[in-house]
Amino acid sequence: MSSILDSAVARGAIKLDGPVGGQVFSLDDLKSAGVRESLCPLVEMMLAIAVRYGLLTARADGGWCQSGTPAPEELLQDRLNEFPELIVMWQAAAWVGRSLPSVLTGEVEGLEVLFGESGPIAAQVYNHDPGLTYLSDAAVAYIRAALADWPADRPLRILEIGAGTGGFTARILPHLPPERTHYVYTDVSSAFFPKAEARFAAFNFLEYHALDLSADPTEQGFVAGSFDLVVASNALHTTTDITQGLRNAATLLDDNGQLVALELHTNSYVATLFGILDSFWDSSDTDLRPAGAALTRDQWTSVLEQAGFSASAFLSAQPEHEGIPASVIAAARSTGAQPGSTPRDQDADGATPVPADR
Ligand SMILES: C[S@@+](CC[C@H](N)C(=O)[O-])C[C@H]1O[C@@H](n2cnc3c(N)ncnc32)[C@H](O)[C@@H]1O
Repeated sequence: MSSILDSAVARGAIKLDGPVGGQVFSLDDLKSAGVRESLCPLVEMMLAIAVRYGLLTARADGGWCQSGTPAPEELLQDRLNEFPELIVMWQAAAWVGRSLPSVLTGEVEGLEVLFGESGPIAAQVYNHDPGLTYLSDAAVAYIRAALADWPADRPLRILEIGAGTGGFTARILPHLPPERTHYVYTDVSSAFFPKAEARFAAFNFLEYHALDLSADPTEQGFVAGSFDLVVASNALHTTTDITQGLRNAATLLDDNGQLVALELHTNSYVATLFGILDSFWDSSDTDLRPAGAALTRDQWTSVLEQAGFSASAFLSAQPEHEGIPASVIAAARSTGAQPGSTPRDQDADGATPVPADR
């Protein structure tokens, strides 16, 4: 799946016409042709993908020359015929690929391409891609199991980080006890809230607040230790310094509270869609994340420990080189027993333990 997506986007994106058509070219040539500095890491990644698919040849002098002819529309049609269930990803790949020249040159903002009214592609991906909904459901299954013994008279305080288009929220809300759940829907941008309020109007236990995970939550109106569960679906990686972002998430949790997060691990997989956002490349913790926002599973384990989480587990049945390069990550703030027990490795159905580092 990952390589197909790479290929589809690269073939759409690397259109060697205009100032560099058919020529030997360097990254400096692309910058002179208008490619924005902030997106050069994306371009370099795309060029490497194009080399892998025989569209370009890398030269010893550091430049590239065209060695194949991209046929993005044909490729996308083939993939659609072969894997129709992945139509949302194909459409997203095509949309981003077609938009890429204008994003790279700054005519259009990546945010507009992914989240704009003209094509709300991110919402489609987060709400309908089978890979992501599978992972969301695995996270929901884990949370339901962890909360199975939650005392009937005890309130359940949940905060969602980076809730955005509400893809994860929609899957978890129906499973929460409405009479005692308090769910705070947050995002760095409050622009998401009006749609979310309309969509989740039937759930009267939601509140909406802006929260920038890169900054101290107590300076944004939140009370330290006031949540039992913090959830984040494809959101933790958006912080500029991920260790500090996790410390901020830990601040929100009560002593025995848990963080349950969904994260993808492979930059090339994520960047083919979300790498058109400047923020994907502007992490300040470049020792951990030199090129792109994603962390590997091994990195997650040590970063969670550094950020004050006492245990972490991965609920993903797939090794990284097969299937979805992503995990549901569960981490407890301390070794206490609420909500549910300290996380253990589980598969997506909550049944078979899977070693964290596979
Ligand atoms: C990849 S999207 C997550 C999708 C969302 N969870 C869903 O299911 O629709 C990342 C989200 O994180 C938000 N975000 C970006 N930077 C953030 C920050 N510093 N603090 C909190 N949220 C942030 C974005 O606005 C965006 O909604």
